[in-house]
Amino acid sequence: MLHEPTSLPTIRPAGCPFAPPTGLAQLREERPLVRMRYPDGHQGWLATSYALVRTVLADSRFSSRYELMHYPVPGVGELPPAPAGDMTGMDAPEHTRYRRLLAGKFTAHRMKLLTERVEQITTEHLDAMERQNKKVDLFEAFAHPVPAHIICELLGVPYADRDTFHRHTVTLMSLEATREQQIDAMAGLQEYMAHLVTAKQTEPTDDLLSDLTTSGLTSEELTGIGALLLSGGLDTTANMIAYGAFALLQHPHQLAAFRSDPDLADQAIEELMRFLSIAHTSVRVALEDIELDGQTVRAGECVTLSIQAANRDPDKFPDPDFLDLYRKATGHLGFGHGIHQCLGQQLARVEMRVALPALFKRFPKLRLAIPAEKVPLRTDMNIYGVHRLPVTWAEV
Ligand code: HEM
Repeated sequence: MLHEPTSLPTIRPAGCPFAPPTGLAQLREERPLVRMRYPDGHQGWLATSYALVRTVLADSRFSSRYELMHYPVPGVGELPPAPAGDMTGMDAPEHTRYRRLLAGKFTAHRMKLLTERVEQITTEHLDAMERQNKKVDLFEAFAHPVPAHIICELLGVPYADRDTFHRHTVTLMSLEATREQQIDAMAGLQEYMAHLVTAKQTEPTDDLLSDLTTSGLTSEELTGIGALLLSGGLDTTANMIAYGAFALLQHPHQLAAFRSDPDLADQAIEELMRFLSIAHTSVRVALEDIELDGQTVRAGECVTLSIQAANRDPDKFPDPDFLDLYRKATGHLGFGHGIHQCLGQQLARVEMRVALPALFKRFPKLRLAIPAEKVPLRTDMNIYGVHRLPVTWAEV
């Protein structure tokens, strides 16, 4: 007999670094929309099937506004409304205004133009890795700096300041940070960005932030947008590169296919996005009473959406627990869906598409330097992945 969960399942089975938390599959099979008690006492819902998660993400009667939200993890508590420019916490029409302004800057075409620069930065980091003693933490040496460099260049953020903003973004993504720590980190990031915006307004340079200063946005809006893009574009892609490399190393047949068939890379990236689902959870709140799966979600109730359960739904993806790079994984929800679907997805694709094949080409003998079960997984973060990935390419 399946009990209603009193908390979001988060414990993953030991020894299975790519498996979603235990209990999600059973819920999806038996009761894909189930009542769930939130850490602050809120009585809301948990949705686990692909169809339901996608439906909620596409339904404008569900809101993303931070101030209406209850979160499925302890510590967050009540949040203030989204600051100007932070469109993730807004609904239409406020969200639409920002999204329209930014969408044109992140098109697939524009991002493809960055390919050459991504290749250069990738090569520089692979060269630096090669100079080390055949053993590195792949996250620190490669997976994080490559997208960090790119997002900094694109926005016009000095890469040298990375320690400051990285500290804040790590806190913002931590499931263990208290509400005060989250608010402080948000304020720290905003403060850093506000200074940068003032600098770009006075002395524009050739980058996106300077470009946006002529779009009729206020300084507060520019600050919010800058903070959002910087935090959204850093840890996400970094974790997909590191966790993706880990997944490939643990699936040697798939890795062999990835290496030998360059035409496979695009669809392989989509399958890795589906299989790994690093942005594992989203939340929406009902603005009115809504019938969903034969039940009524009342106005004010939150629905936690398990992206990882949805992306492993056998009704959508046959044999879902199998990493199959030849699968057509299009339609996965790894970048979300609906009006908030990831703005930076084309940039992320270019980065992953360049970085992962180049890594395995440069180091044909790449392997883990520690047992797989010792790799520290990001169980404490709202973007999943690895904290570190020690690898080696030394002769055995
Ligand atoms: C593999 C890497 C990435 C993953 C897995 C990812 C995942 C996501 C997901 C799931 C959402 C939707 C959140 C929701 O609906 O609640 C989202 C939104 C967003 N992402 Fe990404 N993202 C990635 C890379 C990036 C990059 C590189 C950028 C920066 C350029 C970025 C910027 C954004 C922004 C601004 C939003 C909010 C869009 C909106 O509210 O309209 N992301 N991302």
